[in-house]
Amino acid sequence: MLRTNLLSDRLAGLETSPEEERRALEALRAGTPVSDLQFDALYPAHLRKLSFVHWTPLRVARRAAELLVDRPGTSVLDVGSGAGKLCIVGALTTSGRFVGIECRRALVETGVDVVARHGIPRVELVHGDMSTVDFGAFDAIYFYNPFYERLMAHSRSDEGSAETLRRHEREVSHVERQLARARAGMRVVTFHGFGGVWPPGYQRVAHERYGTGLLELWRKEEA
Ligand SMILES: C[S@@+](CC[C@H](N)C(=O)[O-])C[C@H]1O[C@@H](n2cnc3c(N)ncnc32)[C@H](O)[C@@H]1O
Repeated sequence: MLRTNLLSDRLAGLETSPEEERRALEALRAGTPVSDLQFDALYPAHLRKLSFVHWTPLRVARRAAELLVDRPGTSVLDVGSGAGKLCIVGALTTSGRFVGIECRRALVETGVDVVARHGIPRVELVHGDMSTVDFGAFDAIYFYNPFYERLMAHSRSDEGSAETLRRHEREVSHVERQLARARAGMRVVTFHGFGGVWPPGYQRVAHERYGTGLLELWRKEEA
């Protein structure tokens, strides 16, 4: 708790100028070290505190993008993209095209604003439910355990609890079906998993630990 409070204070207090923001993004593009604090300063102070728990840490995002994009123009879908951190990092550090789908409108609007303000290429952030997107239209998919929040909400309260659990089951089943239908060669990267069971045909080709989180690359093989 103490650590969380101290961190929130630091995050809220960190103000950057447009020039500092531009330099942080340039450094990211050039492959030089950028901290999460520096990157998250692109976002309004009240959202930065989400990053520590809900957004992919910068060094993991860099590595995830590298695993997702195996050739120029690879199209990547981030399922539950938050304020676009993974998509922005991916677009600045690889030659892939990143689309994020996110159900919280305010996060999407914030991400769209950052992308427009800095002219970041090859990023599209869309407001909506991931069940409306055809995963088959992409070469690669990224999940940072997007539906886990339902299980957390369920464990905190009895109110609406059954529906919360049903929603979690629907979302996870939907993803399992979409992954099962995907063509051979589909690459899927997860951080802390996606909450479901891998359909037949997927092989795990890489796994790396970052603190308590496991970053994995799975690929759909030829039948
Ligand atoms: C753990 S955060 C990951 C954010 C981002 N992908 C990243 O790595 O920084 C998961 C996000 O998924 C979103 N989400 C959960 N269920 C969703 C759904 N059914 N459709 C779209 N977004 C969803 C949440 O609102 C949340 O912003």
